[in-house]
Amino acid sequence: MRLKDKVAIITGGAQGIGFAAAKRFSEEGAIVVIADFNEAQGRNAESELQNAGAQVSFIQVDISNREQVDRLVGKVIETFGKIDILVNNAGITRDAMLTKMSEKDFQDVIQVNLTGVFHCTQAVVPHMVAAGGGKIISTSSVTGVYGNVGQTNYAAAKAAIIGMTKTWAKELGRKGIRANAVVPGFTEMSMVTTVPEKVIESIKSMIPVQRLGKPEDIANAYLFLASDEADYVNGAVLHVDGGIMM
Ligand code: CAA
Ligand code: NAI
Repeated sequence: MRLKDKVAIITGGAQGIGFAAAKRFSEEGAIVVIADFNEAQGRNAESELQNAGAQVSFIQVDISNREQVDRLVGKVIETFGKIDILVNNAGITRDAMLTKMSEKDFQDVIQVNLTGVFHCTQAVVPHMVAAGGGKIISTSSVTGVYGNVGQTNYAAAKAAIIGMTKTWAKELGRKGIRANAVVPGFTEMSMVTTVPEKVIESIKSMIPVQRLGKPEDIANAYLFLASDEADYVNGAVLHVDGGIMM
């Protein structure tokens, strides 16, 4: 088991890539906390995984709200005594062309996808430092690296994830903490359902492996970076995108 008895918080773990990660981490022996905004989906995820024998609990949180994040981290410490792994996976889209993007849609995406990651990491790190180490994995996107039509807000936040990750790798490496980013390509989940069919076809044609990603493809990358096998991996930006752009 690659994560035996490790305590992992997975934000956005109620569905999609985060749920696949919660499942995968549980299979490898982790104690998983699904930290998600969506209570109904979170409870479903919790019972589905518990029924399969996993040590999983759901805690509702809006990562854009600092007080709620502090409460989440307090509860995890109170219950399990430590946090070994943080997966900053939660994210939203509010796509629109630049000229049509409202100030609210810009700020909402920044508040969840960028400020939310800052909140979670800042709240968890003191506990990791006190314990002598930990793993922080944050989810960027190919659109944060290469840009994308309709995603001024999202691409800005996802590019920022890479800058923050490299900063944390430098600040926290000597404290035993490893900070890495995963860059998923277009992955078969609810986010992608908003993309027009003809755009999906043109995206597929650009991917050398000729398919979209699966949630499990990304979950496996999270797993590697969360495991002891990645103890010398720090500040890495791991693309899991079928080679869409190189
Ligand atoms: N790549 C290339 N062209 C695109 C495009 C894309 N991703 N998205 C839209 N376009 C094109 C459209 O095909 C259209 O072209 P034509 O004028 O030649 O027909 C043009 O841009 C304008 O698009 P719309 O007519 O759809 O304009 P709109 O104002 O009604 O909607 C939009 C704009 C909201 C951006 C909509 O086009 C859309 O949702 N596009 C998809 C955006 C996208 O790719 N989002 C990624 C979601 S998945 C995700 O975010 C996960 C991740 O990390 C990858
Ligand atoms: P999804 O939309 O299926 O799941 C996201 C989860 O995050 C949901 O359960 C949602 O309730 C939760 N969430 C949203 N806002 C929250 C908040 N404020 N606080 C707590 N939880 C919140 O998304 P998906 O596809 O699983 O994506 C996961 C991550 O991967 C996101 O960061 C996304 O940006 C990124 N990504 C996804 C890609 C894709 O093609 N699906 C491609 C590249 C990156």
